Amino acid sequence: MPELAIFGGVKTRPVPYPVWPVHDERDIEAVTAVVKSGRWGGYPYPGPQTAKFIEQFVALQGGNYGVAVTNGTVTMEVALRAAGIGWGDEVIVPAYTFQATAAAPMAAGAIPVIVDVDPETYCIDPHAIEAAITPRTKAIIPVHLGAHMADMDAIMDIAQRHNLIVIEDCAHAHGSKWRGMGAGTIGDFGSFSMQSSKIMTSGEGGLLLVKSQEMAYRAMSIMDCGRPHDPEGAMYTMGANYRMSELHAALLNVAIERFPAQVRQREDMGNYMDEAMSEVQGVRMLKRDERHTTRSFYRYIFAIDPDRFGGATHDIICAALHYEGIPCWQGYDAMHRYDLFQPQLSNLPVPGAFPQYFEFDKMRLPEAERACLREAVWLDESVFRDGYQGVDDAVAAVKKIQARFAADPSVVEKIREAMEQ
Ligand SMILES: Cc1ncc(COP(=O)(O)O)c(C=O)c1O
Repeated sequence: MPELAIFGGVKTRPVPYPVWPVHDERDIEAVTAVVKSGRWGGYPYPGPQTAKFIEQFVALQGGNYGVAVTNGTVTMEVALRAAGIGWGDEVIVPAYTFQATAAAPMAAGAIPVIVDVDPETYCIDPHAIEAAITPRTKAIIPVHLGAHMADMDAIMDIAQRHNLIVIEDCAHAHGSKWRGMGAGTIGDFGSFSMQSSKIMTSGEGGLLLVKSQEMAYRAMSIMDCGRPHDPEGAMYTMGANYRMSELHAALLNVAIERFPAQVRQREDMGNYMDEAMSEVQGVRMLKRDERHTTRSFYRYIFAIDPDRFGGATHDIICAALHYEGIPCWQGYDAMHRYDLFQPQLSNLPVPGAFPQYFEFDKMRLPEAERACLREAVWLDESVFRDGYQGVDDAVAAVKKIQARFAADPSVVEKIREAMEQ
């Protein structure tokens, strides 16, 4: 049996995977043109590059109106405020996501109500949403996580029955489709991040898709310092400067040219990976929902069974994978345990006024806890950009680690001890 790279053996993947983000002369020319034009900023909103990007993004993703902002967190804050959601309102969010999904409601003065996820997709569990609804509930923020989409049919049904706003957090879902409909176009709002790790990026940036014209006008006013954007010029709001800059929009106008081919390539490699990975012992594949008609891959997530990996939890497997040359991550911590989401560390008004919602020690979210403490492995999307070889190497490394850990669980202990030092 070959020795693991973590113990000095030969790496499964000696050559680094391709870096992200990608760029070529087109990016340099696009930014140079903006620099020379002297029109760098986002005021007056929208600038020509920004308007072009919004048009192209809506054409690609679908949806009615687009609002371009600085990142994929303020998108959600702006959406909530445009929908009139604020102080003391409850917003249901999944326990397994980046902190922004819960921080945005707090920035709008609302209370994030954290619920568990579906173990088959790691996306928000519709039953948990239903169970969490109270007379104060105003919105749901489902997150399309990694390469999966939340069950939008069930979520829209709940939202319609309870008259709730739906904001799809699509930070991982550019290009994804649910029954042919673009992610972010099914709910009232779709929130996209263009931060540097995202599959369409300008380093930082955000795009909000909005279903109703009135809410789009309101969103534009909120993100443009309160200026009116309705045709009558009558709708002023309490706003701030969240405008996208022209430099960022110029980069996005190039990124979106490359995007359709990237989606196709990742889909092909994702299908290939599904087949190869499903044969690895101790690996549980997440569910591929037939209604998720186009998959985009921010990260490829699968679950491991520690009992079949000599007792190793996902952090140990990720450490071993790193040594094998495979870029991966054990994923977020569950929201109530997450270092970045500790609102009591600051003097924010929402946790101060509603402390009963922030008693994290008392929260039990077993599926999110299982994913974040034991079983989820997030493979970097760069494994797909290297084609079949990239996927083969990643799968071979998981197989190698599984075989070695299962044959000799004492090596798992050795790694754990080394990691704890
Ligand atoms: C699920 C999710 N939502 C929201 C965000 C926030 O995006 P941004 O970093 O652009 O604010 C991220 C990004 O990191 C994310 O992963």
